[in-house]
Amino acid sequence: MKKFLSKMPDALVRLLIVFIGLAVIGAFVVIVLIPKDLKDVKLQWAESTKTEQAKPVKYAGFHACADCHEKLYEKKKTGYHKDLSCETCHGPAKAHTEDPEKVKPVIPKERTFCPLCHAYNPSRPRGFPQINPVAHNPLKACSTCHNPHDPKPPTTPKECSACHGEIARTKAVSHHVQLECTTCHQAPQQHKISPRSVKPTKPQTREFCGKCHGKNAKDRLAKNAPKVDMANHGEKYVCWQCHYPHSPEVEE
Ligand code: HEC
Ligand code: HEC
Ligand code: HEC
Ligand code: HEC
Ligand code: HEC
Ligand code: HEC
Ligand code: HEC
Ligand code: HEC
Repeated sequence: MKKFLSKMPDALVRLLIVFIGLAVIGAFVVIVLIPKDLKDVKLQWAESTKTEQAKPVKYAGFHACADCHEKLYEKKKTGYHKDLSCETCHGPAKAHTEDPEKVKPVIPKERTFCPLCHAYNPSRPRGFPQINPVAHNPLKACSTCHNPHDPKPPTTPKECSACHGEIARTKAVSHHVQLECTTCHQAPQQHKISPRSVKPTKPQTREFCGKCHGKNAKDRLAKNAPKVDMANHGEKYVCWQCHYPHSPEVEE
């Protein structure tokens, strides 16, 4: 060891002494000077839990509003804004639920509010309803045209083709041109308002197509429909595994 040290340059030895000195002082501070309480992690956590719990509760939560605003609560539940909490827009409202006459929540009427979520932004998911707030019906509050509790474009599309244009255009030049969409799909009115949450039915069985294409088919439109032997034609597969229902073609 001595030999090793004597080989070292003096400057390095001095540096080594300084470092060891610092380490000793550091250990002394941590072990002796800092009080035990300050080093006890469990105690610290318990303290901060207490501090947090002592803070006043500001948000009442979504369901609290239903007690007194039942109609709005029910209305919002089925609309496009069903996943938004009341307090997302009206701010923390716990105090209001305790004294509704004195404390009123904020009402975000200014045009800058809704674009926080609806201003065009390419990073938003495809299909999310977006507008350009500068060009989209300027000068009027958003809620003059859209009900914030049940928003939709002011006119609901009447035709399936408004949203399913490609299918409608395909069917229009196919053998199924005479068939209404609703012959094969039961579409509740609500589907046109909340298409993602309320879905129409789709045919499930071979027998469905058999209503017109079976040998003894009785449907009003069955008269002109070519017939197949339901027991054997296409075997066990459902018909639309071979025939595209919106444009069934049979090559001659
Ligand atoms: C205990 C009953 C009660 C509860 C719970 C309650 N409210 Fe109210 N709220 C009222 C009453 C009463 C009014 C006043 C109605 C009026 O002025 O005509 C009101 C008015 C409002 C207003 C309009 C304020 C204004 O300036 O006109 C908003 C917004 C509102 N409440 C939001 C909420 C939200 C959000 C919740 C849930 C966190 C909620 N309320 C829970 C009773 C309640
Ligand atoms: C997307 C934001 C948004 C959400 C979510 C929302 N509100 Fe509102 N709320 C508004 C706006 C904007 C107005 C003002 C409407 C206007 O200008 O007429 C309003 C108005 C109100 C009013 C005043 C009376 C009225 O009918 O206009 C009450 C009460 C109210 N909201 C309660 C609620 C409750 C309860 C919920 C949850 C069930 C809720 N709001 C969810 C934005 C929202
Ligand atoms: C916290 C984000 C948020 C805020 C704030 C918000 N919205 Fe929405 N909005 C949504 C979501 C989420 C949907 C549903 C989108 C979907 O179903 O794909 C929606 C849907 C809509 C739709 C339906 C569009 C369509 O395709 O039919 C309209 C209209 C709308 N909001 C208007 C408003 C108005 C007006 C306000 C202000 C009062 C507002 N929004 C504030 C998140 C928000
Ligand atoms: C003068 C009436 C009017 C006002 C004010 C208005 N809108 Fe609209 N909004 C419409 C109409 C009409 C449509 C449907 C046709 C269209 O897309 O332009 C629509 C469509 C929308 C859509 C659906 C877009 C889509 O691609 O599905 C959203 C979201 C929307 N508006 C949000 C807003 C917001 C946010 C504001 C306030 C900054 C606002 N609107 C103000 C009339 C209005
Ligand atoms: C406002 C636009 C709109 C209108 C109007 C509309 N649809 Fe849809 N429809 C949609 C959207 C969006 C989807 C896709 C939902 C998804 O992928 O989650 C859909 C899905 C469907 C599906 C597939 C359901 C599934 O489970 O895969 C069928 C069937 C359908 N629509 C039939 C119809 C028929 C029939 C009409 C007319 C009576 C109609 N739609 C009107 C928007 C619309
Ligand atoms: C002859 C019956 C028939 C008619 C008429 C019909 N469909 Fe369909 N549709 C089906 C079948 C069968 C499926 C496929 C079911 C499956 O794949 O599970 C389907 C699927 C769909 C789907 C789901 C997406 C897809 O392309 O597979 C949509 C959306 C749809 N149809 C919309 C429409 C609309 C809109 C019309 C009217 C323009 C229409 N359908 C007319 C039988 C029909
Ligand atoms: C495995 C594939 C397959 C399945 C599954 C299938 N088909 Fe076909 N279908 C064909 C082929 C290939 C033809 C043309 C040759 C022929 O007439 O057999 C055809 C022809 C037809 C024709 C025209 C017959 C004519 O005389 O012009 C109708 C109608 C038809 N199918 C209806 C159905 C119906 C309804 C179902 C369900 C019960 C069904 N198909 C299931 C393959 C299939
Ligand atoms: C309401 C009655 C009706 C129903 C239900 C129906 N079709 Fe048809 N289909 C017709 C009529 C009518 C024609 C012939 C139209 C024409 O050629 O003028 C036809 C023609 C066809 C053809 C022959 C196309 C060709 O090239 O000759 C096929 C394949 C077919 N349908 C398949 C189906 C399948 C698959 C289903 C079930 C998803 C179905 N159809 C349900 C009425 C119906």
